[in-house]
Amino acid sequence: MGKIKDWHQIKGPRGSWLSGNLKEFQKDPLLFLTQLSNVYGDVAKFRFGPFQKVYHVSNPDLIKEILVSKQKNFIKSKDLNVLKDVVGEGLLTSEKEMHLKQRRLIQPAFKKTHITQYAQDMIDVTANYISDWEDGREYLMSKEMMNVTLGIITKTMFSMDFKEGSEAIGQPIETYMKLAVKRMRAIVRLPLWLPTKNNKSYKKSIHILEQTLTNIIEDRRKSDERNEDLLGMLMKARSEVDGLRMSNQQLMDELMTIFLAGHETTANALTWTLFLISQHPIVMKKLNEEINEVIGDRNIQPDDFSKLTYTQNVFWESLRLFPPAYVIGRQVDSDVEIGDYVFKKGEMILISPYVVHRSPLYFEDPTSFIPERFEKDLLKTLPSFAFFPFGGGPRVCIGNHFAVMEAVLVLVSIFQRYHLTLAPDHHDVKPQPLITLRPKQGIRMIVTKK
Ligand code: HEM
Repeated sequence: MGKIKDWHQIKGPRGSWLSGNLKEFQKDPLLFLTQLSNVYGDVAKFRFGPFQKVYHVSNPDLIKEILVSKQKNFIKSKDLNVLKDVVGEGLLTSEKEMHLKQRRLIQPAFKKTHITQYAQDMIDVTANYISDWEDGREYLMSKEMMNVTLGIITKTMFSMDFKEGSEAIGQPIETYMKLAVKRMRAIVRLPLWLPTKNNKSYKKSIHILEQTLTNIIEDRRKSDERNEDLLGMLMKARSEVDGLRMSNQQLMDELMTIFLAGHETTANALTWTLFLISQHPIVMKKLNEEINEVIGDRNIQPDDFSKLTYTQNVFWESLRLFPPAYVIGRQVDSDVEIGDYVFKKGEMILISPYVVHRSPLYFEDPTSFIPERFEKDLLKTLPSFAFFPFGGGPRVCIGNHFAVMEAVLVLVSIFQRYHLTLAPDHHDVKPQPLITLRPKQGIRMIVTKK
């Protein structure tokens, strides 16, 4: 083991005395972080503003220490506090005992066995939605995938149908997300009581969401109907610690959290996958062959999932190249040694699945789309945090199995009925890293019936 290095010995780019490296980061976080890893290796330092010390960590073994073995020394990054306006102390934003207690309560609703029960809803919502696609028409696929995942999450969560869910939840959440990103990225965050136009729409969208969820929860409490949707599961769950069920406020925070964490991420992952498939005719051919073999012309069923291994690998490979959660942030809560480094309380850590997933140290031909690489147990030959689109440790994505099941069923539903091509006059497709990694200006595709 070498000598332990702290802020003073760790290397990194020089920034301006006032903003540090915030401008370069905000301009193109993917490029900035990739370059840090190329130039400085496993750990690089930089600053946000004059005081906030930040490290970028890109070595899988060190990442494992941060997310798993020494996770108790970290909390989530302060940036997430903006989300608390709407998700309160839900799973995504809570810490320590509160997080552990809620995670234990909610985990059963996301077990593999339970997700198979949501699978039929996923299939029905998708079939229903895409049956309206017109032969030969161009669609903004990023928007279409948002609608499909919105339909799926509202149906699996509250047994609500798409149209109802879209008006009550989809639109306010879109406004909220746009403004939340602005607030997160603002150097000076204006207090919410200032009556600016943005503040007003921000507060209004939160108010509508809260109102809608309160109504849904109260209606459910009043009715005798026993429902096995996510809300039903969460209402039934009792804490092992105090035997109590969740209050209305807790339920609301958790529902909002699941909504926020699960809807846009999966939609973006699906959009990237459709784009990548459209650019790789051989992958498209193999995907179609698998669909013909496993399903043919009959309706898709939940238990087809396990047989659709090529489709699963296509999705994994897409998550490798375009992980929607492209950066995971932590703040040091108590001084900690990670490998040969010491990180001090208050310092921030950024970890980027995007950067690690594209490193030639772990992946051959790292920028090419090759789903076959996931055959033959690739993941067993890699360090455990060389591929981690869902994070890891106690805060690993609770919806990981849900997301993969959903994505595979949506992809197969689409390709069983349609052929998709990129619009002929399409602009260059570039990633836009907002809260999640999405294609800039969306992806337009022509849909042809099979
Ligand atoms: C492809 C789709 C998805 C990706 C790439 C993704 C990625 C992630 C990642 C990387 C984290 C960990 C963040 C951290 O450690 O700071 C996370 C957490 C979380 N995700 Fe996902 N997610 C996806 C879909 C979903 C879905 C469908 C749901 C719910 C239905 C969901 C719910 C959550 C929740 C509640 C957390 C917080 C867990 C905790 O802190 O205990 N996600 N997700």
